[in-house]
Amino acid sequence: MQDYHEFLKEILIPEDLLQTRVAELGAQISADYLGQDLLLICILRGGVMFLTDLIRNITVPLAVEFMAVSSYGTGKRQSTGHVRITLDLNTSVMDRNVLLVEDIIDSGRTISEVLSFLSTRHPKTLNVCALLDKAERREVEVPLRYRGFTIPNKFVFGYGLDIDEYYRNLPFIGVVDLDLYRSEVTT
Ligand code: PRP
Repeated sequence: MQDYHEFLKEILIPEDLLQTRVAELGAQISADYLGQDLLLICILRGGVMFLTDLIRNITVPLAVEFMAVSSYGTGKRQSTGHVRITLDLNTSVMDRNVLLVEDIIDSGRTISEVLSFLSTRHPKTLNVCALLDKAERREVEVPLRYRGFTIPNKFVFGYGLDIDEYYRNLPFIGVVDLDLYRSEVTT
């Protein structure tokens, strides 16, 4: 795989700014849910880095669960418009305060379908916390209670977000120069 320095166009959100904003979101969530329990549901895989930093900044009692859905698939950069649950929860959401944690909202189709799916299981409350909001790409209206950053329509990677499944481990959000990135994915 290429070294990311070869195709990094710019650092859109540096590590210190990410950490500051994540701490603010954690403080806001802690205040909003004071005296209550939380169930955070992370949608794999992009949201994992955000989740692990976020929960270290939340002070109310919380549990963590994971779901996986198929939306783009390796090598594809456009939403298919079709979302399938590939990993369901191991716990009941009924009468619980559920907060969905996502790395990025793009078309809005993934989170919208997950919200519809979970709402049939009667949570007490159901809200969304997204690190990045690519608002100008929205095709479906999504109620975002917590938003880290609104970003422009650029191909971003790092801090959980991948390019062909790699580079999720980088501590910042970068922009890919697609003229310099060489994809090794053939599908
Ligand atoms: C990304 C992201 C969201 C979805 C957003 O997931 O984590 O789930 O796309 O796009 P949308 O608003 O257009 O539906 P991706 O399919 O890339 O999987 P990943 O989290 O495993 O990287």
